[in-house]
Amino acid sequence: MPAYSASAPGKIILFGEHAVVYGQPAIAVPLSQVRARAYVTANRAGTVPAGKKASDPLSSVVVEAPDIGLRADLAGLPPDHPLAAAILAVFERLQVVQPPSCTVRVRSSIPRSSGMGSGAAVSVAIMRALSAYLGHPLPPEEISALAYEVEKIHHGTPSGIDNSVVTFGKAVYFVRGQPIQALKLLVPFHIVVGVTGIATPTGEMVAGVRRRWQADPAAYEALFDAVGQVARQARRLIEDSAPEALGPLMDHNQALLSQVGVSCPELDRLVDAARSSGALGAKLSGGGGGGAMIALVREQEAARVASALQAAGAVRVIQTMVGKRQK
Ligand code: PMV
Repeated sequence: MPAYSASAPGKIILFGEHAVVYGQPAIAVPLSQVRARAYVTANRAGTVPAGKKASDPLSSVVVEAPDIGLRADLAGLPPDHPLAAAILAVFERLQVVQPPSCTVRVRSSIPRSSGMGSGAAVSVAIMRALSAYLGHPLPPEEISALAYEVEKIHHGTPSGIDNSVVTFGKAVYFVRGQPIQALKLLVPFHIVVGVTGIATPTGEMVAGVRRRWQADPAAYEALFDAVGQVARQARRLIEDSAPEALGPLMDHNQALLSQVGVSCPELDRLVDAARSSGALGAKLSGGGGGGAMIALVREQEAARVASALQAAGAVRVIQTMVGKRQK
């Protein structure tokens, strides 16, 4: 069988994280500077460790993720392991009972547990490459829906924004349970991403917000409503070709996220550093509690803001132009 490879980009949430889980709109864009890539190749004789659960049909599939030091056969991984779950979802969808002897290898440059859609991108890349390898490339709608099922195993109550934006690779205005709406991005704008280096599983952050919401629903719903307003205003500004005016909305969204309890000192430090070095606005992006933040900048200030983020402790800084045609 010929080898197949496929990829999916990372993503950043510009507005609306957490509130999106509760039905408010959010805006997210792909971040093509970082990507997950999956390769599926036929095994040569002797690749599969002999004798190990050889009777299990899943033992013919080798799973490799060198970035996390993983090499195992599929039968040896728990079915809810994120990589196994993505592979098994494809086998189930395509009714593959006896998988061919193959290796699924995954590489990713997307920082993990950092609010940049790493898990969803890995799932999508695997599903694309594996379904093509099996002769039935799945359409994007199905890939996104299957990746959502995998997200559920780890996040509990994902909104679906991550799988949508990384599958379709375009800017989205997203409302949970509704078809995704493409965002008309006529005027590109510059974003600098700062990664704290603190990996925080999104599921834990979402669960924490849920506990606090249950303890004080009125207060949290007011915060989520306010975030929704911000996302709606941001959409209007983007579609009215006034993205530079998004800065104050980012600052307001960050203040609301702090009240929701998902910022942290390291994120606050990067947000402050971005603002005081000339950013138009800044906020955390994704689950929070660590992970990444974003700053809106004028092109001429991008390098200064990037240096300030590094000086303030960012372990990685990525500059991107939103609205430029994504690869
Ligand atoms: O941390 P990420 O990149 O998985 O983003 C999660 C966004 C949340 O709104 C916090 C959760 C969700 O499912 O929408």
